[in-house]
Amino acid sequence: MSAQRDTRRLTAPDIRARKGGEPIVCLTSYHAHTARIADAYCDVILVGDSLGMVMHGLETTVPVTLDMMILQGLAVMRGSARALVVVDMPFGSYEGSKEQAFASAARVMKETGCGAIKVEGGRRMAETIAFLVERGVPVMGHVGLTPQAINTIGSFRAQGRDEADWAPIEADARAVADAGAFAMVIEAVAEPLGRRITGQVAIPTIGIGASVACDGQILVLEDMLGLSPRVPKFVKRFGDLGPSIERAVKTYAEEVRARRFPGPENVYPMRTKKP
Ligand code: KIV
Repeated sequence: MSAQRDTRRLTAPDIRARKGGEPIVCLTSYHAHTARIADAYCDVILVGDSLGMVMHGLETTVPVTLDMMILQGLAVMRGSARALVVVDMPFGSYEGSKEQAFASAARVMKETGCGAIKVEGGRRMAETIAFLVERGVPVMGHVGLTPQAINTIGSFRAQGRDEADWAPIEADARAVADAGAFAMVIEAVAEPLGRRITGQVAIPTIGIGASVACDGQILVLEDMLGLSPRVPKFVKRFGDLGPSIERAVKTYAEEVRARRFPGPENVYPMRTKKP
């Protein structure tokens, strides 16, 4: 007999149905404990391949592997109960062919239990997105700045700053929506472009440095908590954890050196035998 859960996890169709409605709240998480906190307030938790830079100190997301995504995806699934968990497909795990994409996505879904995957790319990924969706894999798209393409685009600069550059990004967004994605991230584009795309596509847009008009917003949790040493310009800080952790670690080190820690002598008091 299966155990009854008292919370129903949101699904890709639930998120798809939110187009034009109440804003969709999304955050990244890579750990069970942050997932537990995010789960109480977020509709979508993304296990982003940004974990390569945020957790592992890599310069880009390019070296991230499928095994890394699966390990952290599992942790986030354990920590959450209500949010839709989306796991990023890392560079090299899906671009080779539709079949490669399906094999990687099926592994991620079977081994983590997540509800959807995310792939970067517009028109060039449309056929793959349709292939995956037809075979039971809910796909979130990702257009605008696509960090996995860093070695061909050259920098993490915002896209579509000149109106003349908008048409290909709009075509990418339409292609992703037409291919059957249930939602798409729009990353680092000029505000009016984010707004225009949101008005043009029938699926929810999730902005990150895009436009307040998007159907939802996402940030990298550590960036908005003040834990990441370098953050994109558009990131609004909602916390100041970096300095607060540093203060705690400094105090701890001082106490250990002064032999004031572990504090009260009798953490494990000696048992004295009664005569
Ligand atoms: O990897 C990631 O965290 C992402 C978000 C920035 C959208 O793709």
